[in-house]
Amino acid sequence: MAKGLNHMVDLLELQKRFILAHLCPGDVAVDCTMGNGNDTAFLSQTVGPTGRVYAFDIQEAAVASTCAHLQAVGCPENYTLIHASHHLIKEYVHEAPKAVMFNLGYLPGSGKKQVTTMRETTMEAVFGAVELLANDGILLVAVYPGHEEGRLEGEMLKEYFATLDRRLICCSCFQIVNSPTSPYFFIVEKK
Ligand SMILES: C[S@@+](CC[C@H](N)C(=O)[O-])C[C@H]1O[C@@H](n2cnc3c(N)ncnc32)[C@H](O)[C@@H]1O
Repeated sequence: MAKGLNHMVDLLELQKRFILAHLCPGDVAVDCTMGNGNDTAFLSQTVGPTGRVYAFDIQEAAVASTCAHLQAVGCPENYTLIHASHHLIKEYVHEAPKAVMFNLGYLPGSGKKQVTTMRETTMEAVFGAVELLANDGILLVAVYPGHEEGRLEGEMLKEYFATLDRRLICCSCFQIVNSPTSPYFFIVEKK
């Protein structure tokens, strides 16, 4: 191995690879937790000027931060930033997305750790996202088990994903098993 190179698993890089296997220019994508806009920017750049991205957050600060980030990195004007809870996804999105992302938890850098995703709304949003997802679409949910609500969200999601019909949908989980409090993610792929 060349000096300075790190070949260990990089969860964020891995998440992008899964999304890119399903998402193409011109497609529709949804970011259910826009935060500071990193995932929204990735989706916007991937679908390009002919695609569309819907992004949700309950915090006005997140919408402002995302808007500034998308402009700063030169994203095409293909996004709709929605200041509302993601459990309302079916009220706002009326087309089938090829990719839906959730990055659960709280807004990094805001100091407001109490404003975090919560099981009840997360589950309702995930049910809606699974229904809306296009054929050959992907839903990715990143979970933060280092705090109690995050740990419980992960358990509830795993229980639900295990019930889905394997002939129609494939649900996988990527976790660093010797680091149980590190973030991990689920991917749900529709046939
Ligand atoms: C970990 S951050 C997301 C990071 C983001 N994807 C990025 O790239 O910067 C989680 C975000 O979820 C938001 N959130 C919490 N509950 C929500 C809800 N019910 N609907 C939509 N967003 C919510 C928080 O305000 C926070 O900004």
